[in-house]
Amino acid sequence: MLKRIFVFLLIVASSAAFIGCEHQPKVKLGTGNNNTPIDSTKNGTNCSPDTVYFVNEILPMITSNCAQAGCHDNITQAEGVILDSYNNIMREVRSGNANFSSLYREIANGNMPPAGSMTQEQMDKIKKWINQGAKNNYCNSGCDTTLFTFSGPITKIINTNCIACHQSGTVLLNSYASVKALVDNGRFSGAIKHQSGFQPMPSPYITLSDCDMKKIAKWINAGAQNN
Ligand code: HEC
Repeated sequence: MLKRIFVFLLIVASSAAFIGCEHQPKVKLGTGNNNTPIDSTKNGTNCSPDTVYFVNEILPMITSNCAQAGCHDNITQAEGVILDSYNNIMREVRSGNANFSSLYREIANGNMPPAGSMTQEQMDKIKKWINQGAKNNYCNSGCDTTLFTFSGPITKIINTNCIACHQSGTVLLNSYASVKALVDNGRFSGAIKHQSGFQPMPSPYITLSDCDMKKIAKWINAGAQNN
């Protein structure tokens, strides 16, 4: 009897997770609401150093630290908390009050993320963003695709969007050699372009911004050098 109830609950839980996936829209980083491209003259505002922007900074930070498979991704939904979109993140946030927001409290207490990989700077950003009203805001930081060195923009893209999940485990992105190997066997491009046959990165629901994709493509086309 108990076993039957358990199987029933398991089916309910997995179909709920499945429905959750179906309704999850894809988000392209570097775009505003509804994936409209950021254009400083129309949609976006130019970045102010005093403001923390959700799309530019908070979303990549939270998804890469808190959306690992088995933690808070859309498929496994640990403790019913999914942290991969503005609306889902806002369920854990009381806008204007970081200390009353479970998102910030769990991180500041050191309970989350379990791997303990958030820096003080990242925590301060989350706190500031919440206290500034936790808006779904973004800014146009410009896109200079003439700069695409490994030690510069490429490492920055990886550190912002990927490293929290790829500094240990089977797929490593924590050195030039490890990244280069994945570029050479095609898995790096396949993953970020969400091509079939590859695990979509940084998440099935999130793609890198056009600007970051262009920089990566230029770096790869120029030989993916250790420059
Ligand atoms: C939330 C965690 C997470 C983030 C963020 C993430 N990955 Fe992954 N990635 C994984 C997992 C899990 C796998 C499966 C392999 C494994 O278990 O290590 C994987 C696999 C990959 C693979 C192998 C794909 C394949 O099909 O062979 C590549 C390449 C990759 N990731 C690149 C990236 C890049 C580049 C980024 C940043 C733009 C990124 N990942 C961000 C968790 C993540």
